Amino acid sequence: MYTQDELDKIVENAINSLSIDKEPHNLYQPIEYIISIGGKRIRPRLCLTVFNLFDKEIDKSILNAALAIEVFHNFTLIHDDIMDKADTRRKMPTVHKKWNDNIAILSGDTMSVLAFKYLSSFNGANHEEVFSLFTKTAEEVCEGQQYDMDFENLPLISMEEYLNMIGLKTAVLIACSAKMGALMADAPKEICEAIYKYGYLLGIAFQITDDFLDTYGNTSKFGKKIGNDIATNKKTWLLTKCMQIADESQRAALNKLLLKKDDYSQEKFNGVFEIYNALGIKEKAIEQIEYFEKRAMEAVAGCGLDSKQLEILAAFANMLTYREN
Ligand code: IPE
Ligand code: IPE
Ligand code: MG
Ligand code: MG
Ligand code: MG
Repeated sequence: MYTQDELDKIVENAINSLSIDKEPHNLYQPIEYIISIGGKRIRPRLCLTVFNLFDKEIDKSILNAALAIEVFHNFTLIHDDIMDKADTRRKMPTVHKKWNDNIAILSGDTMSVLAFKYLSSFNGANHEEVFSLFTKTAEEVCEGQQYDMDFENLPLISMEEYLNMIGLKTAVLIACSAKMGALMADAPKEICEAIYKYGYLLGIAFQITDDFLDTYGNTSKFGKKIGNDIATNKKTWLLTKCMQIADESQRAALNKLLLKKDDYSQEKFNGVFEIYNALGIKEKAIEQIEYFEKRAMEAVAGCGLDSKQLEILAAFANMLTYREN
């Protein structure tokens, strides 16, 4: 069995060994750039962490499948930053800012193709199921992103709609990463299913944390501009919850602040921030993140994993819950 540190190094080395920069440079340099400026790599790390629970050798074919997930994720980020009008990611200019929208669109498209190219070189256990899971997941992420965009223009969404949207845009890819690890290790069916649920619930907690950090995080740690979600009227967990519990006058004040979309002013940020504070949204978000982390662990309790394996999954979940970036 590999240690967590060894796994993280394996992921990093595999990513560094991708040789992407070829011609035309305006297509491949942005790909090289987004991949080389970092990121937490949580999806391939989770995939290999789960695979490693079953104590199998990590060969090139397994690594390619884990890399496919990271390449796909980075494709979604390039396009997401155009859609969200974000200038900064991983403490660096976003691809569409450093180059332009057309370059970001085409480099992103290419990454989505490359992801399938890497995945298709996985030929181990359950490769057909792995391929169909990945394909289904890729489609669902696009559905989630469209809901996310549609919701920016709605005055209000329900918590159910919010959870469905983040389930699609974020949680399914984390669930897929975890389940791919189990499938590739040829783990029993019930364990693969439980691990999918674990990944899904962890993914829900992960997106609520991302929403939380977009308002309450520290720019130099988070690496993205704080307040982008408030500026763009993004239907985050914070805003959805706030709308749900605000009294009439608070809701009217909030609606007034949201009248102007794509408003990056300090006044709008402070106005929304004050209402969040009055309603204890920060504390409520932390509670909710911890609740989903707990549910993620409940999903794998009793599925057949031993206490050592569960401990590793709990440590991974905990690391995500208390992140600052
Ligand atoms: C950002 O994902 C997009 C979300 C789903 C919240 P990450 O927070 O995993 O981004 P990187 O890869 O670490 O930069
Ligand atoms: C991103 O959600 C989800 C995907 C990229 C699929 P966000 O828009 O919240 O992610 P960040 O905050 O830009 O990383
Ligand atoms: Mg987005
Ligand atoms: Mg975004
Ligand atoms: Mg975000």
